[in-house]
Amino acid sequence: MDISIVKKKLEKYGQTHLLKYFDELTEDEKNELLTQIEETDFSMVELCADGGKSVKKGSITPLSVMQLSEIEENKELYFNAGVSAIKSGKVGAVLLAGGMGTRLGSDAPKGMYNIGETRDVYIFERIVRNLMDAVDITGSWIHLFIMTSDKNHESTIGFFKEKNYFGYNKEYITFFKQEMAPAADYNGKIYMESRSRMSTSPNGNGGWFISMDRSGALEKVKNSGIEWLNVFAVDNVLQRIADPVFVGAVIEKGFAAGSKVVKKASPDENVGVMCLEDGKPSIVEYYELTEELMNAKDEKGEPAYNYGVILNYLFNVKELEKIMEESMPLHVVKKKIPYMDENGQLIKPDSPNGYKFETLILDMIHLMKSCLPFEVRREKEFAPIKNKTGIDSVDTARELLKKNGVEL
Ligand code: UTP
Repeated sequence: MDISIVKKKLEKYGQTHLLKYFDELTEDEKNELLTQIEETDFSMVELCADGGKSVKKGSITPLSVMQLSEIEENKELYFNAGVSAIKSGKVGAVLLAGGMGTRLGSDAPKGMYNIGETRDVYIFERIVRNLMDAVDITGSWIHLFIMTSDKNHESTIGFFKEKNYFGYNKEYITFFKQEMAPAADYNGKIYMESRSRMSTSPNGNGGWFISMDRSGALEKVKNSGIEWLNVFAVDNVLQRIADPVFVGAVIEKGFAAGSKVVKKASPDENVGVMCLEDGKPSIVEYYELTEELMNAKDEKGEPAYNYGVILNYLFNVKELEKIMEESMPLHVVKKKIPYMDENGQLIKPDSPNGYKFETLILDMIHLMKSCLPFEVRREKEFAPIKNKTGIDSVDTARELLKKNGVEL
């Protein structure tokens, strides 16, 4: 490896500090660092200059939602269509568990968090139990793909093994890893996590399909005849997974994708809402929602942007393959980034100290030719665990689980 080429690359992006300890490293460490530098795309650090504000939205208009009453009227039809798709092996599930869960503040993977009160109840266990409901209804195992990252791959696999896959059929579980991206301070200087490694973090949940492809998991999807993937977050312990009514509605109505949504609790609730952007399905984040959009009304006098996404999507695999080459916006997110200080100590900050670079699954919706927003009841299907206490926390999720008859 030519050190002068590496130096030029670092100079171009203002990252020469990464070689500060280079001369003191062993040969193996030198190679480790040079390889990491060579494989890293540094262009993203240029986004730090404006804090990533350059992602611009197009023209936003309302998108009609399949509401609870309409779902109820056609429930049998959708249910039967969904059950038939699952029974014929056309539906797989993808658990996004590559995140760092920094807000929850546990070093272990978020899914290993124990939310039980009188007994052990792990987040992963709840997820598997929820998926098992669909297995019980249909009498068919559903392939579960679990996305991890370099930071939690081994511990996640180890935990599932230790817990005997929470009773799931392990032949139907596949783990795959997502890619990593460098993490920088507010001036765009990439942090080091040791003298021979840059700080990296998972590159967001938007790369899940590319990572499935790179890891060989997509090959498995195709070989097993899976046509639809239900993709969901690790932290919503109440969600229905491979829900036959949702799957059936998307298939019957001929959509390329579907998104579960809940009615917003208030116009300014911090959730991304479904809409059309330049005529294509999209999600506008709460901080992008102007006063005007927040107060806009539809023809029935209801708020026009009233349904928030809960990170539970259904995608048609063929449609996903068509958009694989398309580029996605890169979001610059303020996060807590562990780093090595001048004394060589690894520091784990208590508050955000820099930027991570992420693509987001919600941007994939805009690449789809159509997407069905499908309403679900918040108190039955939405209990996200983002924080330890307060909003969207272990406490609020526990309350909701208990209301739904789950013993903790
Ligand atoms: P969040 O946006 O809540 O991020 O992820 P996070 O990293 O888990 O948590 P914080 O923000 O640091 O507290 C939503 C979902 O996307 C997954 C998460 O595991 C969660 O299921 N995710 C997020 C990934 O799989 N990879 C990522 O790079 C980021």
